[in-house]
Amino acid sequence: MTQTLVVANWKENITVDEAQEWVEKLSSKFKVQSSKLEVVVCPSFVVLPMMAYEISKFEGVKLGAQDISKFEEGQHTGEVSAKMLKDFVSYVIVGHSERRRYFNETDEDVISKMGQCLKHNLTPIVCVSKTEEVSAVSNETEQGSDSAKLEPRSGKNGLEKTVFVYEPLEAISAEGEFHPDDPEHVNLMAEKIKMIVGKNTPVLYGGSVNAENVRSFVDQPDIDGVLVGQTSLDAVEFSKIINNSAMSRRFAPSDSDESK
Ligand code: PGA
Repeated sequence: MTQTLVVANWKENITVDEAQEWVEKLSSKFKVQSSKLEVVVCPSFVVLPMMAYEISKFEGVKLGAQDISKFEEGQHTGEVSAKMLKDFVSYVIVGHSERRRYFNETDEDVISKMGQCLKHNLTPIVCVSKTEEVSAVSNETEQGSDSAKLEPRSGKNGLEKTVFVYEPLEAISAEGEFHPDDPEHVNLMAEKIKMIVGKNTPVLYGGSVNAENVRSFVDQPDIDGVLVGQTSLDAVEFSKIINNSAMSRRFAPSDSDESK
């Protein structure tokens, strides 16, 4: 993986007005433009249309959704389909531990949602907290047991078009408390995940990432970026995370093009 991904997951936070303020703050702090870095912002569904317009002003920043329907379309009140989302987003977070925990999402649901993403040319960002969850997705893809669920995109294996996030449950920030995992342990887990899904599939880390600790993760050889919850709500802090990630040792000095 030659590109580092920095994903903001706003969760159930930030209204349209607040998003406007966030973008204004980001624009005054947003310094790094690097082809080696991609930033993805994942607001709630109702904030997506406004953000799609605002984000188009920033180079290297894309939009993502926090969830997606596992169904193509039809009588599923409250669901938002891939066909609806693809006008706004490039990425979709799938199977976040909070969805697994509070909404009883199963591996089967995650596989169906991932399939919807791949079918409609959206990149799934699949969250996992243990290797069994990775194997469940990987087996489904390899066996191709249900091509309607996991349809490979552009003739390539769906796993190569997927991003994984290792997010150990105890590392996710809670009530302002930060408990990041050990970067070397995360690197080991990323290595293990890549052994299952393939070395070309990016693996990110999520859990209490902030401007101070982000380098310790993105400097690791097998960690291809970060998913940031709590700290991404503050545009100034999030800009620092972006700028610090762009200085990762993963980039050769000549490749780093900090603009200002
Ligand atoms: P956090 O969330 O950055 O607030 O710990 C990360 C996540 O939900 O994966």
